[in-house]
Amino acid sequence: MNQNVRAKIVNLVPYKVSETNYRWTLNANESPINLFDQWQDEILSELKKESINLYPSANCDTLRKLLATYNSCSPENIVCGNGSDEIIKMVAEVFVDSKDKVVIPTPTFSEYFTSVAIVGGEVIEVPSKADFTFDIEEIILQANQNKAKLIFLCVPNNPTGLALTDSEIARIIHDTQSIIAIDEAYFEFYGKTSASVALENERVIVMRTLSKAFGVAGIRLGYAIASPGMIDLIQRVRMPYNISALTQAVARVAVRNIEQMRSITQTMIEQRNRIVYQLSALPIEVFDSHTNFILYRSDRYVQLMEAFEGASIGVRSYPNSPLLKNCIRISLGTVEANDAVIAVFKEVYQDV
Ligand SMILES: Cc1ncc(COP(=O)(O)O)c(C=O)c1O
Repeated sequence: MNQNVRAKIVNLVPYKVSETNYRWTLNANESPINLFDQWQDEILSELKKESINLYPSANCDTLRKLLATYNSCSPENIVCGNGSDEIIKMVAEVFVDSKDKVVIPTPTFSEYFTSVAIVGGEVIEVPSKADFTFDIEEIILQANQNKAKLIFLCVPNNPTGLALTDSEIARIIHDTQSIIAIDEAYFEFYGKTSASVALENERVIVMRTLSKAFGVAGIRLGYAIASPGMIDLIQRVRMPYNISALTQAVARVAVRNIEQMRSITQTMIEQRNRIVYQLSALPIEVFDSHTNFILYRSDRYVQLMEAFEGASIGVRSYPNSPLLKNCIRISLGTVEANDAVIAVFKEVYQDV
């Protein structure tokens, strides 16, 4: 069978998700709060508006209106995806041909690499500096030298939590000719956005998700904000009914409960500050996070990983990435889960 498979696909490895049943799962940057019980009446009333014998709204019309209001733009500036993963994939499909170059500052989210590989593009990695700040000059240089079709920028970045500033993003846009896809999956925890830039500049697209701050990773809903010209291009590769009626119904409820999302996000940020403060006396590197997770670097990495496993806390490590040697990424959880994380760090460093 392999002789019939495209060469680029033969070398790909399926995305593996840890299915271990931890007491606290803090390895995927999900929300620790399941709002279903609170929302069930609203969800039921939205579901009743759907006719499940029929195809759903092909363009997510009502949902796009709600997302447009949330983002102070027009529904024509929004397109929905089956998670922002699908938006990333569609961006690669629109702009990247076989052998085209794509610049990706690393370390970052793995789906950019997969999406580029599927369409046969070639990734030019631009490693960040030792403190994980971005190498802006090198990003621009590599994009121009390689005539890169596309640059993926993750702001704030997964897994480091660091964010490019507005002026750094503006420089990259101004000094290159590439399409700039800005992944703002963690926007709500950061508060700054390039959405207004994307509305004015046809080369820029902002990608968002309801999987993080909105707390509905299970329904799979991502979206993009861009100029009508850019949205039209994405529409050309989008599958006709890519967002199910069930997802649209729950997403409408999530986006209508914006004040609740904001209040939960604020609590998560306070928890993030509390963890950073609690660990400040320990000799570990705690990277400045603008997200719902924190990246740590420690020379006691092995002991820490064992201790997290022993405490039944699922965390994310990067054994195959030299850039992320000794690094552990841990999502913010409930107060109880965060206390358990702090306790593990203090236990492993009890001698200092
Ligand atoms: C930076 C980034 N972009 C996109 C995604 C995927 O989000 P979604 O659940 O919307 O596919 C993630 C998920 O962890 C992420 O970290």
